[in-house]
Amino acid sequence: MALITKAVKGTQDILPADSYKWQHVERVIEDVCRAYGYKEIRTPVFEHTELFQRSVGNTTDVVQKEMYTFNDKGGRSITLRPEGTAGVARAVLEHGLQNGALPLKTYYFTSCYRYEKPQAGRLREFHQFGVELYGASSPATDAEIICLANETLSLMGIKNLHLEINSIGCPQCRAKYHQALREYFSAHTDKLCATCNDRLQRNPMRILDCKSPVCKEIASNAPVILDYICDDCREHFDSVKANLDAVGIEYTVNPTIVRGLDYYTRTVFEFVSGDLGAQSTVCGGGRYDGLIKELSGQDVPGIGFAMGLERLMLILDAQGIEIPNPNICDIYIASMGEKAANKAFEIVTNMRAEGFAAECDLMGRSVKAQMKYADKIGAKFSVVLGDNELETGKAVLKNMADGTTCEVSLDNELLETIYRFQIDSELANFSDSFADENISALAKGLIDN
Ligand code: HAM
Repeated sequence: MALITKAVKGTQDILPADSYKWQHVERVIEDVCRAYGYKEIRTPVFEHTELFQRSVGNTTDVVQKEMYTFNDKGGRSITLRPEGTAGVARAVLEHGLQNGALPLKTYYFTSCYRYEKPQAGRLREFHQFGVELYGASSPATDAEIICLANETLSLMGIKNLHLEINSIGCPQCRAKYHQALREYFSAHTDKLCATCNDRLQRNPMRILDCKSPVCKEIASNAPVILDYICDDCREHFDSVKANLDAVGIEYTVNPTIVRGLDYYTRTVFEFVSGDLGAQSTVCGGGRYDGLIKELSGQDVPGIGFAMGLERLMLILDAQGIEIPNPNICDIYIASMGEKAANKAFEIVTNMRAEGFAAECDLMGRSVKAQMKYADKIGAKFSVVLGDNELETGKAVLKNMADGTTCEVSLDNELLETIYRFQIDSELANFSDSFADENISALAKGLIDN
């Protein structure tokens, strides 16, 4: 019985009282994506297992230990997506989008599934906002992608984030680096876990993001890729940094970032927050110029990132960032008796058509109970309809916040009064925000020009 009423370990519900926060975050993201010219893509929640093996990589923790894989009734091996990049790459190729207008700019919101040990900020079902760009290999592209992530986070009001960047080179520089890693880790084979011993020959870079504390300790003194990258990759990296400098985005070069997925080449980056505890990375991404080649043989560069939305919510909470709740009921029309209930139903229907959030009784409750409900849902105004109000066509409109009342006729006057109130409060909010120094300066600049 307990199983039926308990969510699966590592999953969580987003309840009606909190969903407006997610909607707000999604709206901010959609606005930023529109400004940068990115269009939404939606791909299936499951794909052929081989897609993730080939793209994310057979020697990664994600593929080796964390995927939800099963055979469907037709005997196909299917995997719930552990991340969004592979599915988008598959969709791009399936629909030939790489042959259309380039660069191709996409964004998505997805649920992802990884069988990890759940803890704060680490779930088995989690959600990502991601972007993927195809067709452009210039360093300015890397900078644009980082700007987009940076702007999204700062428009949410998030502070104290650190951007860390690195270059993990191309397959040419990687060969020399792999050799150096093999030499280094060969001296520690007795202490490395079995998976990392296997990785030593197949893909020694993966040892650098093993979660075992012993492997982590050994990896902390391993050679770093930045000492091995070729001239082309270094020039690319320098140019990315120059682009970031030009737009004033602060970053630290962290030569130990290698990312946990195999498809990355050249620029990789992470936004980390001190408000997240052990799972400090809220956003991670990088360039993947070899991914499309690996899947189809065609040479199409790509770059992207993904943000963990649960981690974003944790930061918003930790930093006390208030999100405006748009779900407040504008008016509750209470009623006594059947005739009044019918009139209330008619009025709320009309008010909804005018764009107001309006509610009336659906449970045949007493006026007292109806008003209690109106209070609970935070209605801004209320009206009580009875025989008298139906006869005179007038009712008392109550402002629930301060208790003030005024008499209004039940036709347009009710609507106009609430409408005026909305405008007045929006004007008040607007002048409050004008008190903000930056906005005043911006407004002054606009007026001066
Ligand atoms: P990732 O670093 O594996 O990259 O995940 C991106 C973000 O998803 C992380 O920074 C984190 O915020 C969130 N995340 C990852 N695992 C979990 C989890 N178990 N629970 C909660 N949040 C989690 C990727 O997924 C790449 N596909 C990103 C990318 C897109 N690179 C290029 N394009």
